[in-house]
Amino acid sequence: MSTPKTIRWGILATGGIAQTFTKDLLVDPTTRGVKHIKHTVVAAASSSSKSRAEQFLKDTGSPSDAKAYGSYEELVKDGNIDVIYIATPHSHHYQNAMLCLDAGKNVLCEKAFTVNAAQTRALADKAKEKNLFLMEAVWTRYFPLSIYVRGLITSGRIGPVGRVFADNSIAMNPEESFSDGKHRMVNPDLAGGALLDLGIYSLTWVFQTLYHTQPKDTRQPPKVVAALKSYGPTQAADETTTMVLSFPRSAEAGGEAHAIATTSLRVATLYHEDGEVPGIRIQGPKGEIQVFPPAFRPTHTRLVMKDGTIEDKHWPQPGPGKGSNFKNGFGGAQNPEGEGHGMFWEADEAATAIVEGRKEGKYEGLAESILIMEVMDEVRKQGGLVYPEKIETTKYPTQL
Ligand SMILES: NC(=O)c1ccc[n+]([C@@H]2O[C@H](COP(=O)([O-])OP(=O)(O)OC[C@H]3O[C@@H](n4cnc5c(N)ncnc54)[C@H](OP(=O)(O)O)[C@@H]3O)[C@@H](O)[C@H]2O)c1
Repeated sequence: MSTPKTIRWGILATGGIAQTFTKDLLVDPTTRGVKHIKHTVVAAASSSSKSRAEQFLKDTGSPSDAKAYGSYEELVKDGNIDVIYIATPHSHHYQNAMLCLDAGKNVLCEKAFTVNAAQTRALADKAKEKNLFLMEAVWTRYFPLSIYVRGLITSGRIGPVGRVFADNSIAMNPEESFSDGKHRMVNPDLAGGALLDLGIYSLTWVFQTLYHTQPKDTRQPPKVVAALKSYGPTQAADETTTMVLSFPRSAEAGGEAHAIATTSLRVATLYHEDGEVPGIRIQGPKGEIQVFPPAFRPTHTRLVMKDGTIEDKHWPQPGPGKGSNFKNGFGGAQNPEGEGHGMFWEADEAATAIVEGRKEGKYEGLAESILIMEVMDEVRKQGGLVYPEKIETTKYPTQL
């Protein structure tokens, strides 16, 4: 068997998801049956200080010779890096990704890719010009669970999908959790609001079931009608957004298909983890596929067929296992000991693409990321949600 190729990562930003991603990245890939690649972290950068980057490397268990930088500009100059993972607030993705691409670095960039479609288009153009890999880090697309769901659809098991309901919401009290209005979830300067942060996953489920599963040459963009409720205290951020999408399809492929995608910072599908309610329902004439919350990290699917068949499947995330002392999670929530978070699947795809010389992600290419950004632009237009010009602009560099 050939020796696995090691991909050397640079981590740009040191916040919550950068920590989760980096810990997952450093889990031995053979624990999930991946043998052709390995990952290592060679550097991390913080925009605030070198010491913060040093602490980040320590906290994530990165190799002791990994370099710590006190600015993103220094990171992109590091010649040992194969790919940079960007984990800043979405307001900053465009400027940060341009910085990386301009310096000749491959990029895996957190969702939402950018603030608007024009920015994603400009990044895609730059990546093409420089012949670099660029992918939106929509990790859920790379889960074995998602591959299974898409397979159920393309195999025709439930017939042509006619309708999808997709919710990704959190029933929080934003006035209490984000009382000063500065947090990235509600702060307009950081492209706050439910749509770009959570609604992207509702749209992910709609697109991976109604668009990505269609043959490439016949896929067509959806029409969209949206209602958007502004979050009172900061105004230019959405609290609850509801989208109706209609996807044109040929009569042979099932004809027009509909979707309702919802997102909220105040009400949700899941109120208690024991309250099993499917947040994603994918309906065809022969049956329905249900995916249980959270929509971004689901671990349970149910296939309910018209003939009475019910197939439940559980998809626990692999990892180093019990007794390993490995702990990961996001925010306050910790996964059971030894269980990965599931962010390694997208990292494996990015690494594999780089090894194979591919320039885009396999399960969501740049054209699809751009289309989803266009849908979100349209939703914001209909809902009157505009962010400050400095984060909507495609002018690079712009000081944020
Ligand atoms: N895939 C997922 O499951 C998932 C989950 C959560 C978040 N996300 C995405 O990941 C991104 C970051 O989210 P997060 O929850 O990790 O945020 P966070 O904890 O606030 O971290 C963001 C980091 O970005 C850097 N940063 C640079 N300029 C900043 C500024 N003006 N304000 C705040 N931070 C700034 C900071 O790191 P330095 O000081 O080191 O530069 C900060 O620690 C967002 O785009 C979000 O949508 C994805």
